[in-house]
Amino acid sequence: MARKPIIAGNWKMHKFQAESVELVNALMAELKPIEKTELPEVVVAPVFTSLHVVRKAMDDCGCGKVKLAAQNCYYEAQGAYTGEVSTEMVKDAGVDYVIIGHSERRQYFGETDEMINKKAKAILANDLLPIICCGETLEQREAGVTDSHIESQIRAALDGISADDVAKSVIAYEPIWAIGTGKTCDSDEANRVIAMIRNVVKSVAGEAAADAIRILYGGSVKPETIEEQMAKSDIDGALVGGASLKADSFAKIVRGAM
Ligand code: PGA
Repeated sequence: MARKPIIAGNWKMHKFQAESVELVNALMAELKPIEKTELPEVVVAPVFTSLHVVRKAMDDCGCGKVKLAAQNCYYEAQGAYTGEVSTEMVKDAGVDYVIIGHSERRQYFGETDEMINKKAKAILANDLLPIICCGETLEQREAGVTDSHIESQIRAALDGISADDVAKSVIAYEPIWAIGTGKTCDSDEANRVIAMIRNVVKSVAGEAAADAIRILYGGSVKPETIEEQMAKSDIDGALVGGASLKADSFAKIVRGAM
């Protein structure tokens, strides 16, 4: 089955509202000459405070070429959870996807596999799609535990989720040592790990879900690296940090995935 590629831009904690609108408008202008059917799924993930204005800019453009993601959400619908934003609330702001389990959230904000599983369930229950991040540290890679670590992250994240919901979900493999460092993971190795993740999905949710689920690579993706990465059998796209903050470099990555 042909899987539609996804190029997702994770803006992290960057861009005020006006800058976010400027960036998404510049991106949509870059994509204007390209037929929608030729494009991969293009997704951008601004900060919470910019979600609404970016949604409006997308709706005003009406091109339907870019989708919106939140970078996080909380799994309870509402209540006394100061500082949190629920899945229902990001849905209300107009998102299509929610990134969960990014290594920066696991590392700096104590997100656990159990929380990520609860978030994935809440996201799917609200008819949104999770982009579930996983990846190993340099120490884990050097200790030879990359595969077992990632397998346990994926098994925990997908625990109790139906095969149909797993099939719709997205996973991003992001080796932590490659994030923001300029050091991309060798594309053969990224493909090997992603194929391993697909096997784990198969054992959890069956062959059809494993064939359907999109698994992205993330970590210093640049216009110069994308074509080689996309040529690999199991890499279905990219989660892009730094290079997504400029419309021209992100658009080059999008074109490299066509
Ligand atoms: P990077 O970030 O492309 O800047 O390495 C990727 C990510 O953290 O999603």
